[in-house]
Amino acid sequence: MLLLGAASVVLLVCVACLLSILQWRNRSGKGKMPEGPAPLPIVGNILQVKPKNLAKTLEKVRTSIEERIQEEAEHLLEEITKTKSMPFDPTFKLSCTFSNVICSIVFGKRYDYKDKKFLSLMNNMNNIFEMMNSRWGQLYQMFSYVLDYLPGPHNNIFKEIDAVKAFVAEEVKLHQASLDPNSPQDFIDCFLSKMLEEKDNPKSHFNMLNLITTTFDLFIAGTETSSTTTRYGLLLLLKYPKIQEKVQEEIDRVVGRSRRPCVADRTKMPYTDAVVHEIQRFITLIPTSVPRAVTKDIRFRDYVIPKGTTIFPLLSTALYDSKEFPNPTEFNPGHFLNENGTFRKSEFFIPFSAGKAQFPPAGALVLQLRLPHMLPDQSCQSFLSAHCPLYNSSLLIPSLAMSHTLVGA
Ligand code: HEM
Repeated sequence: MLLLGAASVVLLVCVACLLSILQWRNRSGKGKMPEGPAPLPIVGNILQVKPKNLAKTLEKVRTSIEERIQEEAEHLLEEITKTKSMPFDPTFKLSCTFSNVICSIVFGKRYDYKDKKFLSLMNNMNNIFEMMNSRWGQLYQMFSYVLDYLPGPHNNIFKEIDAVKAFVAEEVKLHQASLDPNSPQDFIDCFLSKMLEEKDNPKSHFNMLNLITTTFDLFIAGTETSSTTTRYGLLLLLKYPKIQEKVQEEIDRVVGRSRRPCVADRTKMPYTDAVVHEIQRFITLIPTSVPRAVTKDIRFRDYVIPKGTTIFPLLSTALYDSKEFPNPTEFNPGHFLNENGTFRKSEFFIPFSAGKAQFPPAGALVLQLRLPHMLPDQSCQSFLSAHCPLYNSSLLIPSLAMSHTLVGA
């Protein structure tokens, strides 16, 4: 006990010293974020770089994304069918599905759910999220400048991050060997082609470090967010069978069971669209968004937010606004429907960001549209009743979601 007490005091002194050094560093102008335009999700600052034909190349990649998602949804369906109506936990299968969508977009290929390399990638990603959500992980996200200099379990996360980056680097090598710049097949091919095009420009943003980091970002930002949203969406559909029935009825009417659903179906399915929106509003997956720093002094109402201040945009305040969404703690697709049953847009629907940056997480949307097809039996329901005693409590989902802060989107 005595030893523990002494260790805590030493730790506190170290923290205090490091905080003072940090303050001094900031005052002396070092360690501040560089100025620059705000990055957009997914593409970061690439669009601001304005290289020739980039928009065209991105457009090409974008059109194939829908097909890749549709294909992966088929594989998920196959996996679910294999359970033969027995209870099962969908968590792992959903994570594989969304990781594979990203693999398919960036690497141009998907992996079998039992592939050893793929399983080890999934394991690294799970560990990253577990560590990020642990006490040390959360402390690190708040005080990284201090904890960077201290030993502790928070440092283990970097081994996992390096493993994912090594996986990406290996794929990049394979792509380099077979690259045809006139016919890029995926995100890595597009990026490598731009690297070749700009090889004589020393200031080019298209370099190996940016390629690996951007690809890593897509995995981290796109997998857990989408699979967790879908998992909670399934829980909600199971908890509200009448809503599930109405969604199923709309899907059967508009899409039928003989073809794949596509993004174009969405406008003809206002009820399902409202349910998907309500799931995202209700679970408020990332209530505090991700931290951002202001790049100049900002005047906000009667306040001035000084340059360099870290901001946590509280998305939950808009998503749970009781004027916009009456009884916000109630799961009610009516929050996104007009009286005549058409879809009602809301400016308060900001699960992805509080700023100008918006992106369509197409993976989540299309797969969610497809998922009600996968619930002909009650196997998930039995699993949940058997394994989650809180399943029948209406408090379950919001409380889980609220504890899900900063999951790295
Ligand atoms: C339901 C699913 C998702 C949710 C709720 C979500 C939410 C968010 C939020 C709140 C942010 C922070 C935005 C800001 O800075 O203001 C963000 C950033 C981002 N998201 Fe998502 N996201 C989802 C799915 C995806 C998917 C599918 C991808 C990619 C395929 C993706 C890629 C990104 C990227 C690259 C960033 C920027 C990260 C950074 O600036 O470091 N997200 N997301």
